[in-house]
Amino acid sequence: MTGHDAPTRYGFLDCNSPIAAWRLDRQVEECAAADPRLIVDIGCGWGELLQRVTAKVPGAKAYGVDSDLELLERGRAGAERRGIADRLEFVEYRGEDWTEPADLVICIGAVHAFGTAADALRALYRIVKPGGRLLIGDGVWNRVPTEAELAAMWPETSTGDWMLLPEFVDAAIATGFRPLRVESVEQSEWDDFESQFLADKEVWLLANPGHPRAAEIREQADAHRNWWLRGHRGLLGFGYLTLGRPVE
Ligand SMILES: C[S@@+](CC[C@H](N)C(=O)[O-])C[C@H]1O[C@@H](n2cnc3c(N)ncnc32)[C@H](O)[C@@H]1O
Repeated sequence: MTGHDAPTRYGFLDCNSPIAAWRLDRQVEECAAADPRLIVDIGCGWGELLQRVTAKVPGAKAYGVDSDLELLERGRAGAERRGIADRLEFVEYRGEDWTEPADLVICIGAVHAFGTAADALRALYRIVKPGGRLLIGDGVWNRVPTEAELAAMWPETSTGDWMLLPEFVDAAIATGFRPLRVESVEQSEWDDFESQFLADKEVWLLANPGHPRAAEIREQADAHRNWWLRGHRGLLGFGYLTLGRPVE
């Protein structure tokens, strides 16, 4: 899992967003139960959830859209392994430019491709077919942080980067959706996500302490851990909304 020259990239994560295994299982079940014919995942990464939903709905055609070729390759390999590569295409494309409407649209951790979460909801509404669904996930403040708290987070984080969960739901309703499920992750899901995110670097550092890049990698890992443990931990949540677009 760990090469000599550089740490792996997302090698320890099943999904590139905070989510517990049980929550992922339930989202897969609920997405599949709606029996979508056409599915698109905007900002899919390697599309673990997308792969699993597609595998559960034998008649579905699915597209995973992302701008990162390496992640798309991981998705293609997963689709091959699951025997669904003929129905699931991973497409290198700007998510905000996708126009083909689908019965199920997924957009998790990628709303920034559209601007704000409200911008994303408006744009995504246009590609959810009437009667279809959107599963959207993104950061939500557990409470709005103070300036001092913001200063300990990733550089340039601002209160406007995320909404409170009720505001996220209000924005979805104002767009025309109705909420079918509103959920936000437990602290343990964020902690697992950040730990697994950092594991690429930490495992590599343990195996390569004398490598010329070790100091640089250690510095990056320690900075990230500080942004998490001294910065957003407890303040930033992650909300998932399952939304329905009414029939016309
Ligand atoms: C936090 S990751 C989430 C990945 C995936 N949805 C998941 O939950 O595992 C965000 C993804 O959005 C992709 N992304 C960011 N901007 C994009 C854009 N303009 N168009 C397409 N994909 C984009 C990134 O490459 C990355 O894979």
